[in-house]
Amino acid sequence: MLAWLGLRERKVRESRWRRVVARASAPGKVILVGEHFVVENQPAIAVALDLRARVTVEPLEGDFRVIVSSRNLGREEVFRPREVNESSPLYPPYYAALKAMELIGRKIPLRILIDSEIPPAAGMGSSASVAVATVAAVGAVLGIKLSKEDISRLAYQAEVLVHGRPSGIDNTIATYGGAIAYRKSEGFLELEADFSPVSLVLADSGIPRNTGEMVRKVRALLSKYPRVLEPLYHAAGHLAIEAGKAIEAGDFERLGELMNVNHGMLAAVGVSNLTLETLVYRAREAGALGAKITGAGGGGFIVALCWKEDAEKVAEALREISPRVIVGSVASEGVRVEGPS
Ligand code: PMV
Repeated sequence: MLAWLGLRERKVRESRWRRVVARASAPGKVILVGEHFVVENQPAIAVALDLRARVTVEPLEGDFRVIVSSRNLGREEVFRPREVNESSPLYPPYYAALKAMELIGRKIPLRILIDSEIPPAAGMGSSASVAVATVAAVGAVLGIKLSKEDISRLAYQAEVLVHGRPSGIDNTIATYGGAIAYRKSEGFLELEADFSPVSLVLADSGIPRNTGEMVRKVRALLSKYPRVLEPLYHAAGHLAIEAGKAIEAGDFERLGELMNVNHGMLAAVGVSNLTLETLVYRAREAGALGAKITGAGGGGFIVALCWKEDAEKVAEALREISPRVIVGSVASEGVRVEGPS
């Protein structure tokens, strides 16, 4: 009897140990030029950042449910069919996981652990990176290596819940990494670029903002003054093409100048404010090649493009007026599956 019990206990332990856990990660992003204008189908340029969102997915036993825990938010939520809190900040990753399971055609109870280095709601694409890493990790836990195209498409669906009308640039860069030129109607092009001479210095305005709201505000202005603003949208599209060429030529002085012009355009559509302007001008005065709002604006971060050797000087100047300054660089790697283990 005792021997039998011992055997049973060992079997249970073994089956737990063998339970497949999968990990995936995806980078955050910086839009170098073209945010907001990209929503109306103008081209934009984004790069992946060397900050990543990491997601661990573990199968559970018992009835179907998905437990989502975020280390950053210090929050955990259990999602069961018909008992779903759609207003939870953890709902989009649950939804991304569900979509991945639907695509694969197998639904199992899961625990999803999110641990991200990307500041949330800051213009660095944290929600898209979490969605991308979640989809990839769910695929891996079910033994399927999803294509990058599928990962990006499913993450886009989760982004719709977060932002209402995303352009798709965030999920694309989080999936593919590197530098991309993106256009809604045409997809994206990977830019051949060597970013090693430069750093990206990111400074927080300390003002929270909501991407969906900012996008609605800018679109309302466009529909109020279409004759005035449509030429600006076309100019922003041309600017993105010029910026793409500058990146491929390694001409960072030109890229910086174009970022400055792009910042002026963003101010024109109403997404700047005194705090963001002060950060942008401080960065330029301290020696940045160019500085601008990044992401939806209204708050969040600014990005300054700097020669590597000037990055610390620019960061120091920004630290005097910003609650958080990050010195980052461009990451070539997109989504990475790190499990199953
Ligand atoms: O601030 P973020 O990281 O959510 O970026 C938003 C970029 C926009 O162009 C304003 C919206 C979009 O979906 O492209």
